[in-house]
Amino acid sequence: MKVKNLYIETYGCQMNLSDSEVVASIMEKDGYGITENIKEADVIFVNTCSIRDHAEKRVRNRIQEFKHLKQQNPNLRIGVLGCMAERLKETILKEENFVDIVVGPDAYRDIPRLVEETKSGLQMANTLLSLEETYADINPVRLDKNGISAFISIMRGCDNYCAYCVVPYTRGHERSRDPKSIIREAEDLLSKGYKEITLLGQNVNSYDWEENGKKVNFAILLKMVAEVSSDIRIRFSTSHPKDISDELIEMIANTSNICNSIHLPVQSGSTSCLKRMKRSYTREWYLDRIEKIKSLIPDCGLSTDVIAGYCGETEEEHKETLSLMEMVGYDYAFMFKYSERPDTFAANKFPDDVPEDVKGRRLQEIIKLQQEQGYKSNLKDVGKVFRVLVDNVSKRSELQMAGRNDQNKVLVFDRKDCKLGDYVDVKCTSCTAATLKGEIV
Ligand code: 5AD
Ligand code: SF4
Repeated sequence: MKVKNLYIETYGCQMNLSDSEVVASIMEKDGYGITENIKEADVIFVNTCSIRDHAEKRVRNRIQEFKHLKQQNPNLRIGVLGCMAERLKETILKEENFVDIVVGPDAYRDIPRLVEETKSGLQMANTLLSLEETYADINPVRLDKNGISAFISIMRGCDNYCAYCVVPYTRGHERSRDPKSIIREAEDLLSKGYKEITLLGQNVNSYDWEENGKKVNFAILLKMVAEVSSDIRIRFSTSHPKDISDELIEMIANTSNICNSIHLPVQSGSTSCLKRMKRSYTREWYLDRIEKIKSLIPDCGLSTDVIAGYCGETEEEHKETLSLMEMVGYDYAFMFKYSERPDTFAANKFPDDVPEDVKGRRLQEIIKLQQEQGYKSNLKDVGKVFRVLVDNVSKRSELQMAGRNDQNKVLVFDRKDCKLGDYVDVKCTSCTAATLKGEIV
């Protein structure tokens, strides 16, 4: 019997990559193999992102390319999954009428039925959001072929409703996954030789589970996962500054295989702007959290997300973002221009009134400052020795390997006799703004 093939393309955040692995598992159970060659596909899925307008445009252009494939092979099934499916269900079914199924983030178990039903020639959709679905019992098919690092999704959805953000509407309410199923997944990864696990959630600090009167918060969960094996490194993303607790920072400081690296999206350095963003913390609160991290974990890697040109952002407020970035000295930052998302609090309440050229200029100032900060941070690492997990062959030369240190910085070094998945000690000998170069010691 011919095996049916699924080709899946993923856009957006790590959570989407993790969701695609759940979808692949559901499809495998339904008799599909996973192919990386789109020409072999019987089913094409695109797992989509709605976070900014640009992300949506990119995917809608990409979907157009599938139309020709469908003309050549009328049996081909095309599915749009994820956040855009949730947000744009009717529009996609109408305007991309060659799309067969549209499935929101909480309805992936229904995919096999939906695909089957399309045989009648109908377009099918399921965009129901759930208060319970965590896909806890599904063992994801690892799509990332390196066999070294993997994601475990520990919760879904978001209840924060930051004013600019579409996620609470596309991914629904926050819910945590049973810790037993998380540990089981970590043990499975260990048995398959994985060396790094990243725990994922929109706001991992509000992870919350209770069973038989016993509470598991995020700090406790981190510890439980870290105890699965000291040979596995643990990372996590994303933390919300409003509830990154001392208990969590202490847990990171005191547990050797929890990486000293925290992604703490600030969005803006101005208290008044943060208020309009409904972020529920102030500049001072954020800086206090950073101080706490730096005092308990002096070598902690720090990264952030910043939005330039949010509704009503004044030049003063923008300067406060720059000055906060200077005070923190981030190792890395993801930097964006504000993009209005229909039906969010900000879209309904505030005009998107920072002119495009001003947004662009502010973003450039933020990027330039971050490049300087990143370079400064890298310069401080020259001369230090880092434990590195080798996870890649260098893009430049087969004779060189690459890996990340505890702080999540990439080091490139001569291969010697190390191989993928090894831990090696690398002395940093020089740097650019983007990478550290070194040698195995
Ligand atoms: N416009 C620009 N950036 C956004 N983000 C979320 N929503 C928007 C938006 N409407 C950014 C935030 C968030 C990251 C994942 O994307 O910085 O932390
Ligand atoms: Fe969006 Fe805020 Fe939730 Fe992050 S915490 S997903 S920015 S609403």
